[in-house]
Amino acid sequence: MRKLTVAIDGPAGAGKSSAARLVAGRLQYLYIDTGAMYRAFTWAMIRKKVDIHDSQAVQTLADTIDIRLEPLADQCRVFVNNQEVTEAIRTKNISSCVSSVAALAVVREKLVQLQRTMAEEGGVILDGRDIGTVVLPNADVKIFLTASVASRAKRRFLEMQAKGSTDTLDDIARSIAARDDMDSHRAVSPLRRADDAILLDNSELNLEQTADAIMDLILKKGR
Ligand code: CDP
Ligand code: CDP
Repeated sequence: MRKLTVAIDGPAGAGKSSAARLVAGRLQYLYIDTGAMYRAFTWAMIRKKVDIHDSQAVQTLADTIDIRLEPLADQCRVFVNNQEVTEAIRTKNISSCVSSVAALAVVREKLVQLQRTMAEEGGVILDGRDIGTVVLPNADVKIFLTASVASRAKRRFLEMQAKGSTDTLDDIARSIAARDDMDSHRAVSPLRRADDAILLDNSELNLEQTADAIMDLILKKGR
């Protein structure tokens, strides 16, 4: 089968990264977690105390930052200027700031360029919010993966609980809904289904079934 480019977009907690990782493993494709790149930029903004309203400082950071993804079989390690931030970018603080940073055009320009370069060779699965609409409008397979807020919040709740978090299901549902709202209503590259993306609602599917459904769509295209 020829090496395809696969775009998976959708809201938080839909299972994009977990399913994309599984499918990439099965096909020996490269998995590119674009959300991790926005998280890494946000981490650097906080670390360097860059004010989000200081456009010159944001521009300077965008011009100088080195964000690198190192895809492994079961995860994607993330580095900022050679410092590993794989775990550090998953905190609650980063989750609550990332959508404001991702709304900045200068940040998107920088990261979209990087994502396109990484996808050049094909045999890649990218997941994010604007892959099918902006980053790779000519992707071979485009999927918009979504689920109800209730199921997405429950998944995140179980995931966070396993990590020792004391956040309630309500807290998580509120923060997911707020992020959905910001991501869908921003001026630049808002979260939306590309006209030619296949809608996959996995509210009633588990992770394996979701990965199987995505595999079927890819294999159909690759024939
Ligand atoms: O994993 P989770 O769904 O929590 O989010 P993520 O994929 O790590 O993305 C974090 C945030 O980055 C999103 O809420 C968006 O604000 C932003 N993002 C984006 O704007 N465009 C992308 N292609 C990927 C992420
Ligand atoms: O990347 P995204 O924010 O779309 O979601 P994720 O981080 O891949 O998935 C969030 C959580 O939901 C993970 O713990 C997955 O294992 C879980 N999940 C699930 O329980 N059922 C699914 N159908 C998909 C994901």
